Amino acid sequence: MSDTADQTRFTFGLWTVGWPAADPFGEATRPALDPIEAVHKLAELGAHGITFHDDDLVPFGTPAAERDQIVSRFRDALSETGMSVPMVTTNTFSHPVFKDGALTSNDRDVRRLALVKVLRQVDLGAELGAETFVMWGGREGAEYDGSKDFGAAHERYKEGLDAVAGYIKEQGYGMRIALEPKPNEPRGDILLPTVGHALALIATLEHGDIVGVNPEVGHEQMAGLNFTAGIAQALWAGKLFHIDLNGQHGPKYDQDLVFGHGDLLSAFFTVDLLDNGFPGGGERYQGPRHFDYKPSRTEDVEGVWASAAANMSTYRLLAERARAFRADPEVQEAMAASGILDLGTPTLEEGETPASVLADYDFANLEADADRLGERGYGFVHLNQLAVEHVLGAR
Ligand code: GCO
Ligand code: MN
Ligand code: MN
Repeated sequence: MSDTADQTRFTFGLWTVGWPAADPFGEATRPALDPIEAVHKLAELGAHGITFHDDDLVPFGTPAAERDQIVSRFRDALSETGMSVPMVTTNTFSHPVFKDGALTSNDRDVRRLALVKVLRQVDLGAELGAETFVMWGGREGAEYDGSKDFGAAHERYKEGLDAVAGYIKEQGYGMRIALEPKPNEPRGDILLPTVGHALALIATLEHGDIVGVNPEVGHEQMAGLNFTAGIAQALWAGKLFHIDLNGQHGPKYDQDLVFGHGDLLSAFFTVDLLDNGFPGGGERYQGPRHFDYKPSRTEDVEGVWASAAANMSTYRLLAERARAFRADPEVQEAMAASGILDLGTPTLEEGETPASVLADYDFANLEADADRLGERGYGFVHLNQLAVEHVLGAR
């Protein structure tokens, strides 16, 4: 295994391995997990860090003195194990107060309560050295098109995000916000349903320079979208601040399977992009490889840790396969034949303008040019088969 793979920072949400597996149809199948044990177990398995919602560590409503005790026990576990906390987030979805949303609730008092709950977690994240603050607005949305003024809702989302980002800057925290899109669940429809929607809102923010996205594999796939294409656009825009890796089988409920246990070929190209970057160079992803999955309800405690290890193992195997893919001379030849590297060449020559191209073009040849250029084969199927063969270990 190369240096790159050894240095990969794998992180897990406390709520992932800690999920006792209660779902809307049945009770928990596993006991609650002590956060301290989660830190130790994940460290043993080779993880780099752990992330958490405020309420995962300190249950909602815990008195201040007890809160301090819990946090200090957690800190001790971190220093004993060398585990880091590169990201934190806020639970603005579980308590009934958030039933109509948090930063975009129709009730102003709820919006104010949500804001302070978020800001308090920003403070704790900064204390623990978090570089990223994830905001997943799971309850920001609606079931009925007539139940909300969606213009005002976006205005309030913008106000809330600028308030949090402005606070981060004011306090001098070196932290960036990453918005997590999801199309639905738990709301019928959620605001910022896809990476593209989130990027568009970010472009309107006053403090948008420190706001990016945290795309989750399954969330884009629930919307029938291509995850690798989504993170590619975010990366190109300099906005891929964090990532939630897991598995999903197409448009259905949010499965949160182990990474690679959904669309494996898509997972391969995701790892290839994260580890090897765009074929022609450009922005690179620097953040942790964060797993946001749920150990299936069928698994016992031992199965939880096996599933955690499976995420990292699958990532490492795909990383190894992606390195071999890029290094394979036949792949390089196929990429060249497909024109992939030619896409890096600007369409206009230096000094040309749209008007000059138009004026210089010999329109008498337009149809002949089109016919000639239209004859080309791109060889994408061959290239994709080479990828499949690498994934299958046949090369
Ligand atoms: C989901 C979401 C959540 C969020 C997390 C961060 O599966 O619906 O991924 O798990 O990522 O709560 O706030
Ligand atoms: Mn999910
Ligand atoms: Mn997530």
